[in-house]
Amino acid sequence: MPQSNFIYRLKDLTFSYETGSFTLSVDELSIEQNGITGIAGPSGSGKTTLLLNLAFLLVGQWTTFEFEGRPVDRKRLILLRNRVTYVPQNPILFSGTVESNLLYPLKLRNVKDREARGLVRDVAEIVDIENILESRSHQVSGGEAQRVCLARALVFEPDVILLDEPTANLDEENVNNIEKALKAVSERTKLILVSHDMEQVRRLCANLSILRHGKLRSEKSTM
Ligand SMILES: Nc1ncnc2c1ncn2[C@@H]1O[C@H](COP(=O)(O)OP(=O)(O)OP(=O)(O)O)[C@@H](O)[C@H]1O
Ligand SMILES: [Mg+2]
Repeated sequence: MPQSNFIYRLKDLTFSYETGSFTLSVDELSIEQNGITGIAGPSGSGKTTLLLNLAFLLVGQWTTFEFEGRPVDRKRLILLRNRVTYVPQNPILFSGTVESNLLYPLKLRNVKDREARGLVRDVAEIVDIENILESRSHQVSGGEAQRVCLARALVFEPDVILLDEPTANLDEENVNNIEKALKAVSERTKLILVSHDMEQVRRLCANLSILRHGKLRSEKSTM
């Protein structure tokens, strides 16, 4: 295993969309191996753009971009993409049951049925959705759907889960449920969370960075 304490190290990363209307610009960002790292910022500040760069799905320019202690190699992005999971802002469940949604990524990876069902039960317990595994995916609530998406990301056993506004549009009870699930998940997997809700980021994260107009600056959380 690499010796770095940081899972990501970035210096002078920039990314512009082809339209030229927006540029993300990160002078310096070092993300620790453990816990939940938070990035807050208003709508349009570039949170999703930054997460997609960290997921290696958008590729900009940089002077330093290290992942797990090694420089990011533009020719090997597919391998890197397999190590991280991006959970989008409005995640979509497939038709079928909740359980089939969780089994699907394992089937793609040829995990044997028995082992796959065991892994699904484990992650369902962590995010507290065991009681809805048999439910049809279109019958679950918004908060439950968010937890299913978290479980579906976790079941891959990625090194990092990148969460894009995991509690947008949820009521207080569901926000609490998701935050509890995130804390439980962070015991075993690195989480990077973006949110427009600064208070939520402060509640959950030891480290907080703030994005404004595409520019990132870091500050210590009040925790
Ligand atoms: N595919 C795209 N092509 C061109 N411009 C884009 C594209 N996606 C996003 N943008 C622009 O980039 C800027 C940052 O968008 P981004 O989605 O990263 O912001 P955000 O902080 O995630 O916002 P929100 O909180 O509303 O989700 C916005 O001005 C947006 O219009
Ligand atoms: Mg966004």
